This record gives sequence, structure tokens and C-alpha cells, in this order.
Amino acid sequence: MEVALLPLDDIMALRLAVLRADTPSSSAHYAEDTDPTAVHLGIRQDGVVVACSTWIVRPYPPDLSTPAMQLKGMAVAQHLQSQGLGAVILAAGIQRAIAQSKTIVWARARDSAIAFYQRNGFSVVGDMFVDDATGMPHHLVMLDLTTS
Ligand SMILES: CC(C)(COP(=O)(O)OP(=O)(O)OC[C@H]1O[C@@H](n2cnc3c(N)ncnc32)[C@H](O)[C@@H]1OP(=O)(O)O)[C@@H](O)C(=O)NCCC(=O)NCCS
Repeated sequence: MEVALLPLDDIMALRLAVLRADTPSSSAHYAEDTDPTAVHLGIRQDGVVVACSTWIVRPYPPDLSTPAMQLKGMAVAQHLQSQGLGAVILAAGIQRAIAQSKTIVWARARDSAIAFYQRNGFSVVGDMFVDDATGMPHHLVMLDLTTS
């Protein structure tokens, strides 16, 4: 399982299938995709992208002064979920954040995925909010790289 930097076009089909199934928005493009710091990490299996995530250098909303990396669009193909691919791609992004001297990784996590983030060391911050694109309950999650 090799994590690679992928072009946005290569991860769109997976984002759509996993993150935009029966959601109010059918677009899997994010405003953050145009950020010059945005990179897309992915895992291919037989040439097909089966896991992806997008990483952007972006301040952590509750603490704008701390160097931080935002994680977005975390998705693993449904038939391969719960086999560790999510943890592998998350670890690769966290290593990139550490290499770029960031001290926080944060995400707007749908509640159904919060246990995944917590098992990987993240903390839940603040109140629930509903994400417009998915209509799903979300919480902010953060990983403090100075203590993890
Ligand atoms: C959330 C998501 C990205 C996590 O990816 P994943 O590959 O399923 O995650 P992991 O396999 O690393 O961890 C999840 C589970 O697998 C288990 N696991 C970890 N490594 C494992 C391994 N080597 N073999 C078997 N199981 C393993 C974990 O304990 C965890 O347990 P669970 O069965 O209680 O869930 C993925 O499930 C997904 O795409 N979900 C739908 C979209 C989504 O919610 N995205 C997040 C938006 S914020």
C-alpha cells in the first residue's frame, strides 16, 4: 500500500462515490482545492484510486496563530473500508504536516467518522454543526502534534 501524491482529477470519482452519495450537493469540488498549498494523497489498487485525502495549509479556527494543516475529503472505497487504508493515508498526511513544521492537524469530521479520528489520536472540539454539502452532523476534530 503506497501513498502517492495524486492530481485532483484522479481522486474525484472516489470523492463522489464515497462522500457525495445521497447528499444535498452532488459536487465533490471544494473551494480549498484551488488553494496553492492543497495536495491530494491517494492509494491505488490495480490502477484505481481506492483511498484519498486532501491536505491544505490552513489556520485552525479556534487558534489562528498556530501553524496548522487542514485535512479534507478523507475517503476509502466502500468495499475496502475497515481494513486500515484510512489509517495509512492519515499517517502519511500527518508525517507531511510534521515535516512542514505544523503543530496541529484539523478537520471538519462527519459524526459517523469521529470514532476513526479518535482511534488515530484526534480530539473532538466544540459543538455539533450541520455541514451544508452533506446535510450531516459534524464536529471539529484536531490532532495536537506537540503531544501526540
Ligand atoms: C472514515 C474512513 C475514511 C476510514 O477509513 P478506513 O480505511 O475505513 O479506516 P481504518 O480501516 O483505518 O479504520 C477503521 C476500522 O478498521 C479497523 N482497522 C484498522 N486497521 C485494520 C487492519 N489492518 N485490518 C482490519 N481492521 C483494521 C479499525 O480498528 C477501525 O475499526 P472499526 O471496524 O470499528 O471501524 C472510511 O471508513 C470512509 O471513507 N468512510 C466514509 C466516508 C467518511 O466518513 N469520510 C470521512 C469524512 S470526515
